Amino acid sequence: MRVLITGGAGFLGSHLCDRLLTDGHDVIAVDNLFTGGKRNVAHLLGRPDFEWIRHDVVNPLLVEVDWIFNLACPASPVHYQYNPVKTVKTSVLGTLNMLGLAKRVKARILQASTSEVYGDPAVHPQPETYWGNVNPIGPRSCYDEGKRVAETLMTDYHRQNGVDVRIARIFNTYGPRMATGDGRVVSNFIVQALDGRALTVYGDGSQTRCFCYVDDLIDGLVRLMSYDGDNAAEPVNLGSTGECSMNELVQTLGRVMGRSLAVEHRPLPENDPVRRRPDITRARERLGWQPRVALEEGLQQTVAYYQRPESRPDTTQRRSRRS
Ligand SMILES: NC(=O)c1ccc[n+]([C@@H]2O[C@H](COP(=O)([O-])OP(=O)(O)OC[C@H]3O[C@@H](n4cnc5c(N)ncnc54)[C@H](O)[C@@H]3O)[C@@H](O)[C@H]2O)c1
Repeated sequence: MRVLITGGAGFLGSHLCDRLLTDGHDVIAVDNLFTGGKRNVAHLLGRPDFEWIRHDVVNPLLVEVDWIFNLACPASPVHYQYNPVKTVKTSVLGTLNMLGLAKRVKARILQASTSEVYGDPAVHPQPETYWGNVNPIGPRSCYDEGKRVAETLMTDYHRQNGVDVRIARIFNTYGPRMATGDGRVVSNFIVQALDGRALTVYGDGSQTRCFCYVDDLIDGLVRLMSYDGDNAAEPVNLGSTGECSMNELVQTLGRVMGRSLAVEHRPLPENDPVRRRPDITRARERLGWQPRVALEEGLQQTVAYYQRPESRPDTTQRRSRRS
């Protein structure tokens, strides 16, 4: 396959490049480098089966491909709230442009959606049939509602134009190459612990998340893209079902690092969901997928990555407020 990955220089996108190249595909990575970095794909440059294009998905792009993975979008609150209008444009115009391309070149397209479409959920765990509880005018809305519209666009292009779409609702994923300093809890904790600082815990630390290791998540994305069975256009949750409180995460990380870690509490941010856990029955039944890497093992890999100094360049300089 010839595969286009938007957001290909980001955390998930760069791992997806690695995986698809290993599987023998030709990969084109597109990225505007807002949160991603060339360092994430530097090891791939020069390969005949890999191309890199600096491009912003709010503008149309024409390339001949068979598969499109649409991952371009800042994913952490610090980054998506930096320029909320641009975040909405990236999700809405970016997805429209990629769907237009998919329609034109008859490519299959997968949208990286998110557990944030469930908002602060009133149903636990969340099945794909749950419509969510999202604030349309809150500080997280640019991301949550942008992704919800992207799902609507995918579904309507499928119904109206027969475009072959897949929608992955991705839950918290962690691993090497996550941006640092963007407020995501795993990278935050690891970097703070490596620097010998106290770990910032919001609220009392009893709020839970489910952390999926990046290799598992990427495997889920590839399986979903390859799925040819019934109802393939329906959203599929991909994430870990092992619920872990922030306090438990601190303890597990302490075990991995071989010392107890100090903690500093701060107030919980507005609209921060207290609890979220995917129901992955659909992924299990349709894709034969479930996460395999245990939290402790994944944290070991991630800590080992961040221990290398070249893993932590400052990403804040390149930001632009242009929309
Ligand atoms: N990592 C997670 O836990 C998680 C959870 C749910 C959903 N997702 C989704 O997965 C996708 C990838 O997330 P990630 O964690 O790799 O984040 P990331 O920030 O590392 O990657 C996103 C990439 O998209 C690029 N980008 C942003 N706006 C762009 C634009 N307008 N044009 C071109 N490129 C643009 C960034 O530069 C970056 O390389 C995102 O769509 C995100 O919403 C991630």
